[in-house]
Amino acid sequence: MAINILAIESSCDDTSAAIICDGKVLANVVSSQLQHAALGGVVPEVASRAHIERIVPVVDLAFQKSGIPVDEVTAVALTTAPGLLGSLHVGVSFAKAFALAKNIPLIKVNHMDAHIIANLIDEPRPVFPFLCLTVSGGHTQISLVRSPLDIEIIGRTIDDAAGEAFDKGGKMLGLAYPSGPIIDRLAKEGKSKYKFPLPQVNGFDFSFSGIKTAFLYFLRDQLADDSQFIENNINDLAASLQETIIEALIVQLVKAASHYSIREIALAGGVAANSRLRAKLSEAAGKYDWNTYYPAMQYCTDNAGMIGMQGYYQFLAGRFADQSIEASAQV
Ligand code: KG4
Ligand code: ZN
Repeated sequence: MAINILAIESSCDDTSAAIICDGKVLANVVSSQLQHAALGGVVPEVASRAHIERIVPVVDLAFQKSGIPVDEVTAVALTTAPGLLGSLHVGVSFAKAFALAKNIPLIKVNHMDAHIIANLIDEPRPVFPFLCLTVSGGHTQISLVRSPLDIEIIGRTIDDAAGEAFDKGGKMLGLAYPSGPIIDRLAKEGKSKYKFPLPQVNGFDFSFSGIKTAFLYFLRDQLADDSQFIENNINDLAASLQETIIEALIVQLVKAASHYSIREIALAGGVAANSRLRAKLSEAAGKYDWNTYYPAMQYCTDNAGMIGMQGYYQFLAGRFADQSIEASAQV
């Protein structure tokens, strides 16, 4: 019998449902809560209310698109951590109710593991063991991936995440939230002519708060002389901030790859959509003879397809959860 997994993701500001049949994503529906842009960031209370309104229509649409009847679902995979507690609760409650009504097992999925497993959705897939740089709005880490269920985090941010550095830097430039994609677009028209110091961190960890502060002070000093400084130099500022963030990521990735002698390198998370990061990764691939991978755009940002894929590997290993599962803000 086919393994049909209904997957649910609601950890932040995207309500998403997917249907995965025997490890293939048949439908991946994502409803992004655009109302947060006007609020300057994700407002947890607004996010959880929006999840409540959207979860049923999103799941309905996923079933319609997949062509799989509701009665043929064999398990429900869901994000239980990490994320915004109120948002996670909506997905957890929905998944528990669905599983109870259909008398099928639950599969508990860690959102960060799922971002990495997004690399296994489509061909070409990285060969194990591989390193994965996961860069999102809330997390930045390098993982050593020995198998789909054997993931060791070898480096992580000690303060802000890379996506957060994009979003906070963008806010200083007066850009809308999330600023990452806007900075990516503006930077294409600019030059990275302003230099900011790269963080000095141990091992394979990351730090972005120094870049953020240096950027803030630089803008403050320039604005004191020229109140139009940001407007007149927006493209170069975007390019300079982006270059510093990406360089900080690549330096640590190169260190880790050399330390573990691994040449299979993957990207994951929302910032993996960044065109400069992808360009720098292929530059490094040429230099160090790496094979590089990143998920299709729809599987980089938050989505239930990746949750279902991670759930599929747990299904194969017989790792099921029961009705006692709970949402957790931390990993
Ligand atoms: O993984 P994700 O969708 O959500 C979290 O789990 O956090 O990542 C969202 C982050 C945001 O910080 C957003 O600004 C950033 O990904 N992002 C980008 C780009 N697209 C999304 N950052 C830089 N360049 C992009 N093209
Ligand atoms: Zn995410």
